[in-house]
Amino acid sequence: MDGNGRWARARGLPRAAGHRAGVETLRRTVRAAGEMDIKWLTIYAFSSENWSRPKSEVSDLMGLLKLFIRRDLAELHQNGVRVRIVGSREGLEPDIAALLVEAESLTADNTNMNLVVAFNYGSRDEILRAARAIAMDARAGRLDPDTLTADDFAARLDTAGMPDPDLIIRTSGEQRLSNFLLWQAAYAEFVFVPCHWPDFGPDDLAAAIHVFAERDRRFGRVAQEAVS
Ligand code: FPP
Repeated sequence: MDGNGRWARARGLPRAAGHRAGVETLRRTVRAAGEMDIKWLTIYAFSSENWSRPKSEVSDLMGLLKLFIRRDLAELHQNGVRVRIVGSREGLEPDIAALLVEAESLTADNTNMNLVVAFNYGSRDEILRAARAIAMDARAGRLDPDTLTADDFAARLDTAGMPDPDLIIRTSGEQRLSNFLLWQAAYAEFVFVPCHWPDFGPDDLAAAIHVFAERDRRFGRVAQEAVS
């Protein structure tokens, strides 16, 4: 969801106004994804590196997250959306940590759609925590390093039990992953959209999915027509 700040600056507005507009875009994108019958939608809401932004911006973003959960959780629940959070919970303010738990537990039995919120998330941190868990299991004799599999590793990531992303969309024209789902994105398709996040609409989502549908996904194999 990139480009909130630039969207605001282009209008002579404070960055917070861009983030507020971004929350509106988030609402309409979740609704649009539901209408398109998308079963898994992951949003990169706040990275572990975002703490180094100015204090006032961090506080604005925390406020928006709280507002989003408080205001939108009932509607998400009504629509059968299951909310899951990935990222580190360590050191979070108690009210934020409690809201995350509330969002997950209230919606735990919903099956229409999964909304995964990457919050205080950084892929290197996630991978490191998984590696640490594996090392501890090995030291305790619960795991044999010689037989460790990719599935064993994935089972210790925050995304355990979730499918890998098929499509990653980044707005604002930037073309990088920025520490997002590094392990999980091994075979993801990328679509980079020039507009800033507040201007991203259901038509842009549909267009990105159309581009994705035209891609030839080979997962390291050769194309079907090349097999003879
Ligand atoms: C990137 O834009 C966006 C973010 C760092 C945060 C995304 C947050 C929201 C859409 C609103 C908050 C929603 C929740 C649920 C927390 P940027 O600030 O990096 O924009 P810039 O690159 O133009 O400066």
